[in-house]
Formats: sequence, structure tokens, C-alpha cells
Amino acid sequence: MSHAASASPILEARDVSIRFGGVEALKRVSLHVMPGEVLALAGDNGAGKSTLIKILSGVYRADSGELRFEGQPLQLRDPQDARAQGIETIYQDLALADNLDVGSNIFLGREPVQRKLGLLTIDRERMAQVAREVLERLDIVIPPRKLAGPVKMLSGGQRQAIAIGRAIYWNARVLIMDEPTAALGVPEQRKVMSLIGALKAQGVAVILISHNLHDIFAVADRIVVLRRGEVAGERQVAQTHGDEIVHLMVGDTYSNNSR
Ligand SMILES: Nc1ncnc2c1ncn2[C@@H]1O[C@H](COP(=O)(O)OP(=O)(O)OP(=O)(O)O)[C@@H](O)[C@H]1O
Ligand SMILES: [Mg+2]
Repeated sequence: MSHAASASPILEARDVSIRFGGVEALKRVSLHVMPGEVLALAGDNGAGKSTLIKILSGVYRADSGELRFEGQPLQLRDPQDARAQGIETIYQDLALADNLDVGSNIFLGREPVQRKLGLLTIDRERMAQVAREVLERLDIVIPPRKLAGPVKMLSGGQRQAIAIGRAIYWNARVLIMDEPTAALGVPEQRKVMSLIGALKAQGVAVILISHNLHDIFAVADRIVVLRRGEVAGERQVAQTHGDEIVHLMVGDTYSNNSR
């Protein structure tokens, strides 16, 4: 049992529903995560995982239901609202600005300014300095030459590390990651998994979406399984196994899967 068991949830969704046209993407979904807990969100393609985390991070607004942060009702108008609360999200499509350098990606929309000759300018030196510090803290080695160039020149693992670094720099209290390792090689996957472990040790709550059961069992404390927009089950990692989770994901039969 996780040490967070006696604490209260930092982030919670209660009876959240949303539909896109004819598709009920989420039907009365409830879920919570504790400080220092790694919660895995599992489910087949189209189960509603990304939709749920987009509600938790202010991208979509639920049609009904509510969010709570530290027990208080939470209204999110947009992702900036979520970030202001310390909810940082790394989306499936990663959301780095390909043509900008590492420092610019860490600050993205929150750039530090300085007064120079009476003019407000973006403090690029400070951004580069922070980029170096963040990477050092994460034990990520990127040659200085590449640090200054566009992040599209970096590997998938390095890019992922920068996205995580950005969340850490902005003091994430909840870090939501949608398929963080899907596009990575094995060493980079390990790195991301160990970063998640480090964040957990610092008391950050992590919600991890993954299709990779190996990853889930390696880092998660608890698993919530979504199936066709509903919570199909919830298990403590220590009290379940891969077959049970797969069963929850796909249901009793494949034949009535009409999605
Ligand atoms: N913006 C949208 N407009 C219309 N339908 C959407 C939209 N976003 C998601 N959906 C639908 O909602 C359902 C849930 O999609 P979602 O992306 O949340 O699934 P997922 O669990 O993240 O799947 P995957 O594992 O493939 O990433 C799907 O049927 C999808 O087609
Ligand atoms: Mg998804």
C-alpha cells in the first residue's frame, strides 16, 4: 500500500461526462490521485483516456460532473488555469514547439523579462541558464551546441525529458503524462520511468496513461481502467496482474465491441 493512502486526494474528478456529437466519450467517470501517488490510466484505443486528462488539464470542459483540487471545487477555463494550480500535462502529441530551443520550450508563454536600456526584453540568458539547470537536475546530457538549436534536432527521449523538465521547473504538483514512452527507445523509456519515480519521491502526484503494462506495473501504485468511456475497474498494482488488467480493458468478449 502506498504511503499516500492516509492523505486526501490532490486532484479528483467526480461523475465527469462529455460527449462529442454522437459519441459519449466519458460517462460519469470518477477518479482521484493522491500526493506522491502514481496512478496509471489504462484502456483500449478510444476508451476515453486522453479526453479525461484533457478535462483534468483544462483543455476540454466536461458536460457534467466536477473537478476538485485539494478537496475544493476546481473550475478550469483553460490550460493556463490548470498550470497555475500546479497541474502540468505532457500530451500524447508532446506539445514542444519544434522550431524553438530548449530554454524557449521550458518557458513557452511564461518567458522571463528584463529591463534593458529602458525596454522590456525576454531574458534569453536566464532561459538558457534554467535549461542547463533543469537538464542537469534530470541527469540528461544534451551537448551545448544542441541546447541552443531547435528541439526538433533532439531525440524522442531528450524531447520527452525536456517536457518533463518543464513540468518540474514550474513546480508541478500533479503531472499528467499521456503515453510518455510510446515513441521512445528502451534506454529513454527507462529514463522516463525513473524520472517518474523521482517525482513520486518528491510528493508529486502522477497520472500516467500507458498501453505498456510493463511500464504500468513498474511504476504505478494503482490502476484505473477505462472501457468505452466508463471506469471498468480499479486495482492496486500490488493486488492485481497483467491478465486481470487486460480483461478489464477488453471486457468479456470482443464480439460486442462496436466502437
Ligand atoms: N475532439 C473530438 N471530437 C470528436 N470525437 C472525439 C474527440 N476527441 C475524442 N473523441 C472520441 O472520443 C473517444 C475517446 O477518445 P480518446 O482520444 O479520449 O481515447 P484514448 O483512450 O485516448 O485512445 P488512444 O489510446 O487511442 O489514445 C473516441 O471515440 C474518440 O473518437
Ligand atoms: Mg489517447
